[in-house]
Amino acid sequence: MCGIVGYIGKRQVFPILIKGLKRLEYRGYDSAGVAMINDNGDLSVYKTKGKVADLERFCEDKDISGTVGIAHTRWATHGEPSSVNAHPHYSESKNIAIIHNGIIENYADLKKKLVADGVKFRSDTDTEVIVQLIEYIQTRKNVDLLTAVRFALTQLIGAYAIAVLDKRDKDQIIAARKQSPLVIGIGEDEFFLGSDATPIIEYTDKVVYLDDDNIAVIRRGEDLKVVNTLNDTLNPEICTVDLDLGQIEKGGFPHFMLKEIFEQPECLENCMRGRINVEANNVTLSAVIDYRRQLLAAKRVIIVACGTSWHAGLIGKQLIESLCRIPVEVEYASEFRYRNPVIDSSDVVIAISQSGETADTLAAVNLAKDNGAFVYGVCNAIGSSIPRDTDTGSYIHVGPEIGVASTKAFTGQVTVLLMLALALGKEKGTITNEQYSKIVSELCTVPEKMKSLLKLNDRISELSKTFTYASNFLYLGRGYNYPVALEGALKLKEISYIHAEGYPAAEMKHGPIALIDSDMPVVVIAPHDEMYQKVLSNIQEIKARKGKVIALVSKGDDTISKIADEVIEIPQTLECLEPLVASIPLQLLAYHIAVCKGKNVDQPRNLAKSVTVE
Ligand code: M6R
Repeated sequence: MCGIVGYIGKRQVFPILIKGLKRLEYRGYDSAGVAMINDNGDLSVYKTKGKVADLERFCEDKDISGTVGIAHTRWATHGEPSSVNAHPHYSESKNIAIIHNGIIENYADLKKKLVADGVKFRSDTDTEVIVQLIEYIQTRKNVDLLTAVRFALTQLIGAYAIAVLDKRDKDQIIAARKQSPLVIGIGEDEFFLGSDATPIIEYTDKVVYLDDDNIAVIRRGEDLKVVNTLNDTLNPEICTVDLDLGQIEKGGFPHFMLKEIFEQPECLENCMRGRINVEANNVTLSAVIDYRRQLLAAKRVIIVACGTSWHAGLIGKQLIESLCRIPVEVEYASEFRYRNPVIDSSDVVIAISQSGETADTLAAVNLAKDNGAFVYGVCNAIGSSIPRDTDTGSYIHVGPEIGVASTKAFTGQVTVLLMLALALGKEKGTITNEQYSKIVSELCTVPEKMKSLLKLNDRISELSKTFTYASNFLYLGRGYNYPVALEGALKLKEISYIHAEGYPAAEMKHGPIALIDSDMPVVVIAPHDEMYQKVLSNIQEIKARKGKVIALVSKGDDTISKIADEVIEIPQTLECLEPLVASIPLQLLAYHIAVCKGKNVDQPRNLAKSVTVE
């Protein structure tokens, strides 16, 4: 939610800010703005409703000179998307400008007090309260900017990553974080700021991930200084980011989403690399070796996650229960954190998150830790908050995912959960050697199977045209494919704005069947597994009511193929691996329907990639 960029150094700042915002646009895209101190020492704020490209156009006739600046791309929380509510926000005197990612929960109280003291506000945002408070403290107490920021932060309740510029000091940016991500890039006589490392990696691979309650004093010509709110100097760890530019560009694809769908065979290989040894028929996860005792002691596993990651968690439940014989509960992180759940030290909590920054999942992690559970993270974004807050974990290593609709992260999460279940099941002795070997060797064939599925792209693109009329879709699956049905429905609704629901196929007769008529497309995942006959009966029930069936069947199926309206063949694999193959045609289906409907696939309305607010 919201992307933050900043720069101070010798280069012209505007192009760096714009490029950085474009890289972070997946985080929010309803308005954008920049604040720069120009060569004459003026602090200019330019902002507009719309995308970063609109901001660029808006600035065409403006003075964009200067070597220090901050910029923001917004996902609205308080105040509608508009130029006025766009960041940066000025203080009343216009001496200070701020950008902010997060939510200030007590902003209304603070605003009331400031207004009562005569401070004039321009916007409806919670962010403006921070900058007004900083200026209020600065002028009333006659203190420097850092002190004013420190004092202001102690009054805020909520989450923030902020960057502050003061026109009276063009050599300094002050930045701070609490529960919202902030990365500082350290170059040669220059510094960069970003909500993640993507705006920075083009210039330097040396970064500092700010911790909660850290304040960075970024001063031209000096070393980075980090303090806490009491002004104690801290020693931040300088890390090296291993990310190349090609990974965050479209590489010839029309959308990031399509690129990311196509990357999945390679992503899976990266995810398994160094962890699966085919010759030795072995799965090694370093976290399972290092924390064997804690993991083997688990009496229960609780998986916490949101959205697509929650769907991966539902598959993880089936894998862990069947291979490790440990009971597993899967919880929406947002519910778990507020319902006073029973958690104790015999629980292992697995937090799944692509971004590693989802506010609800992060809060669930901290709740679990506070109650003594051992917490294991399954994340993609290296160095993000969840991997840093958990006791241990495994990265999925699928590379940056930029399309708002999650695709390769889902298959990466399922793969890591499977490797975890295999490694743990072997340690516990709950899986036979034969079962273990069979799954390991079959898992290694999945990238090739994915490649064969990607060849269906043109056919699915054609087929999609038939279904753009629909305003509702039903997705059905059973067992491991029930979460795949949920995920297929989520993909469709978030990018095409068609209402879609996923159901366990057998539940259809308990309600959803009433919806079926000739206008209702039903996607049925029906591979040749144990449930085949049952799912076949469901298809017959749909056809008897004139529903349109799009069936995912195993190659060579000659029964369902005869009754379904459209058939997509998927390669045969083990049941526990079916989600890895079945999800690909569903991602392509959602993608092509959305493209046919002319939707903005990578930046669907109202959504953001990283949900760092509740
Ligand atoms: O970064 P996370 O995995 O924690 O994100 C969770 C959800 O916000 C995310 O999966 C969301 O549902 C996606 N837009 C789904 O495509």
